[in-house]
Amino acid sequence: MALQQLSSRWAALVVLLWTALARAHTVITYPGYRGNNLQTNGTIADANGLGVAYNSKNDSLYYPYGMQWIYPCGGMPTSTNRTYWPVGGGALAMQPGWFPGHATALMYINIGLGEVPENMSHPVVSAFQITGPSNNPYPGTICLPQVPLPANISVKAGDYATIQVVEVAKHGAALFNCVDIIFADNGDSKIAEVTTDNCFNSSDISFQYVYTTSGTSGAATLKPPRRMWMAVVPFLLAAAVM
Ligand SMILES: *[C@@H]1O[C@H](CO)[C@@H](O)[C@H](O)[C@H]1NC(C)=O
Ligand SMILES: *[C@@H]1O[C@H](CO)[C@@H](O)[C@H](O)[C@H]1NC(C)=O
Ligand SMILES: *[C@@H]1O[C@H](CO)[C@@H](O)[C@H](O)[C@H]1NC(C)=O
Ligand SMILES: *[C@@H]1O[C@H](CO)[C@@H](O)[C@H](O)[C@H]1NC(C)=O
Ligand SMILES: *[C@@H]1O[C@H](CO)[C@@H](O)[C@H](O)[C@H]1NC(C)=O
Ligand SMILES: *[C@@H]1O[C@H](CO)[C@@H](O)[C@H](O)[C@H]1NC(C)=O
Repeated sequence: MALQQLSSRWAALVVLLWTALARAHTVITYPGYRGNNLQTNGTIADANGLGVAYNSKNDSLYYPYGMQWIYPCGGMPTSTNRTYWPVGGGALAMQPGWFPGHATALMYINIGLGEVPENMSHPVVSAFQITGPSNNPYPGTICLPQVPLPANISVKAGDYATIQVVEVAKHGAALFNCVDIIFADNGDSKIAEVTTDNCFNSSDISFQYVYTTSGTSGAATLKPPRRMWMAVVPFLLAAAVM
């Protein structure tokens, strides 16, 4: 009993720490996200080992490992506050380092078509790897200024879609996050402007190729980076967590 209390207090403390850290920050920073899904609640024992479980006491779901582990959009349902994105493809910026275990990570970016997509089976860029400065949580942003649409997909202004970002951590876990969009004509003023403030690569995160798909998925391949940056920045976040 005493031990149980202690461990649930400890779990609550860890949860508090994470939510406090996560609350003020986003993951897909451009063009936006469904909402804050950097949340963890309930215990693994309560959920009997499931990634998401139903709490009948107050009719809510809990996520003992964290919401982002749930396919396809990290435990968030389709949102109604969609954001505009160009019919010819556009920018996508994200902060990949909000959880431990991402010293290296594989990134996948997919698109699902329609208001509530049947699947996210349309890759828009080939999988790529990033290397961060630390296996602890780290700050930093990466941005792909021109994520194209798959070659055989055509969309028009007013169509709905969902962009899905998948981050596969070193230990094999996949984290999911999405943004719901409405396509707008290229250059439409409803599309949030892409600037060096919202679309940049932090110098402490580098990119590597994983593989090039041989024309089977219609996905674009990232251009090779001119040079690789290596980092020597203070790990403020890591220090805050430790
Ligand atoms: C949608 O609403 C949620 C909840 O208010 C918010 O966190 C999120 O940033 C919004 N997303 C967009 C794209 O406006
Ligand atoms: C549901 O109950 C749990 C405890 O059983 C509590 O931690 C949680 O905050 C409650 N959630 C809501 C949404 O009321
Ligand atoms: C867990 O957090 C999610 C997201 O904030 C919330 O919707 C859900 O109600 C919470 N679950 C419990 C049991 O409090
Ligand atoms: C995915 O959904 C699209 C519609 O957006 C459909 O055309 C396609 O067949 C589906 N693919 C799979 C693998 O289910
Ligand atoms: C696009 O082409 C790829 C490869 O030929 C195929 O797997 C995919 O289903 C196609 N998508 C659509 C929407 O036709
Ligand atoms: C960030 O790096 C990737 C990989 O090298 C590159 O494709 C992208 O254009 C860069 N983003 C910016 C804003 O320069």
